[in-house]
Amino acid sequence: MPLYSMSAGIRHRMNISIIGTGYVGLVSGACLAQLGHKVVCVDQLTARVVRIAGGNAPFFEPGLEQLVADTVASGALSATVDLVSAVQQSEITLIAVGTPDADGHIDLSQIEAASAAIGQALKNKPEYHVVAVKSTVVPGTTDGVVRTALEHAAGKSVGAEIGLCMNPEFLREGTAIEDFMTPDRIVIGASDANAASVMQMVYAAFDCPKVVMSLRNAEFTKYASNALLATLISFSNELASLCEQTPGADAEVVMDGLHLDKRLSPVVDGHRVRPGILSYLRPSSGYGGSCLPKDVAALLAYARGKNVATPLLEAVAQVNAARTGAVLDLAEERIGAFAGQKVGVLGLAFKSGTDDLRHSPAIQLVEQLSDRGAHVTVYDPVATDLARPLLNGTVKYAGCAVEALEGGDVAIIGTAWPEWSELDWPKIRKAMRGNVIFDARNSLRTLDPPKDFILYQIGNGG
Ligand SMILES: NC(=O)c1ccc[n+]([C@@H]2O[C@H](COP(=O)([O-])OP(=O)(O)OC[C@H]3O[C@@H](n4cnc5c(N)ncnc54)[C@H](O)[C@@H]3O)[C@@H](O)[C@H]2O)c1
Repeated sequence: MPLYSMSAGIRHRMNISIIGTGYVGLVSGACLAQLGHKVVCVDQLTARVVRIAGGNAPFFEPGLEQLVADTVASGALSATVDLVSAVQQSEITLIAVGTPDADGHIDLSQIEAASAAIGQALKNKPEYHVVAVKSTVVPGTTDGVVRTALEHAAGKSVGAEIGLCMNPEFLREGTAIEDFMTPDRIVIGASDANAASVMQMVYAAFDCPKVVMSLRNAEFTKYASNALLATLISFSNELASLCEQTPGADAEVVMDGLHLDKRLSPVVDGHRVRPGILSYLRPSSGYGGSCLPKDVAALLAYARGKNVATPLLEAVAQVNAARTGAVLDLAEERIGAFAGQKVGVLGLAFKSGTDDLRHSPAIQLVEQLSDRGAHVTVYDPVATDLARPLLNGTVKYAGCAVEALEGGDVAIIGTAWPEWSELDWPKIRKAMRGNVIFDARNSLRTLDPPKDFILYQIGNGG
């Protein structure tokens, strides 16, 4: 576990309860425990709670297994299904439950249920308590659904008795611990100054900017961030589609040229700085995961509810929805029809470093390959088994990359796992019937094409 540079450290060891032990709740809980707070994580899934209480991470996230083991062993982190006692024994409760997409709208049922349960617990707690929403929620939710459910169940009011905050989380799966421990900024939407000061104490160890704002601005800040990332990805993919139909063009080369604009990669003290945002300006098979697709959809639904036209954001979603099909059309143009072909797909997670399959472009790729008549075998370093309930019965599962490609005509890279560049490609060549690799993530771009293979990539016109 790397050491993170913190400012003054925490001045006051706080008792924190966190509702929801997904990527956000558990990573936040384990990190806050590591920083010196006493954290209890609550979930309604008993199996999840049992794993955490035993010092294990219930899902794959680099570094999390060790962090949970260490913080549980030190007594700083615990887990329970008993929400009432967890809330009553803490000073502040963070809500980190899911806010999934339901037919293009945000489903706030988990938020409402968690808020009501917290309110119920606060009914018999005489001390002041702060409730902070960490989940991504559309503007107005914290001061609406959350506040109403809390006040109704607690029989108390936001103000003197309950402080209300909206503290969006910006961590990314795959680098979640590092992102949490070294944030760019901490956004604190607060009902009033008291609530904001309690939130400041939670984050006392961090020396990044802490921006205090209204609840609605905090909610908007998170959507602005994700909408921008989605927009950059769709912009890159629209450009990639144009390059793919232009012989001699390559969107990767075009993007390299674009990135050198000093407004995108400034030169500081004679050195070119390459901001992380540039990684979103690359051709890809589209954005996926548990956040960008549902957050763009939620913001679009919010805009419709306000009668505000958002044609740019609509186009962002449309470009993304069409991208998997466009990438497979390109593959068929280059290689020939997939019908009857034996295809091995390497990578299923929505990106490398995670086992999260929610809205994964690689899963969509496998589904559409099957629809086009391919016989598909899949392998992912951490998510193969998790995909079984999601994919149709004709898909086969392999225990390693070589097995997935055994006897295959085409290898397709579905997720840009760094492992692929380390594969024993000569051995794979012997195991395969064909000699074609279609790299739908351009993850082999920096490699020389493996010997005796024909390597096709996206974003170029051949
Ligand atoms: N995953 C990310 O990378 C990420 C990043 C930033 C923000 N977010 C946002 O954070 C929120 C949580 O995301 P996630 O991916 O961690 O979610 P998740 O779906 O992985 O986990 C949510 C957890 O909450 C639990 N839960 C739901 N209702 C509960 C209740 N009433 N009591 C106790 N437990 C309850 C569920 O059992 C589940 O374990 C979402 O709003 C998401 O948009 C996610």
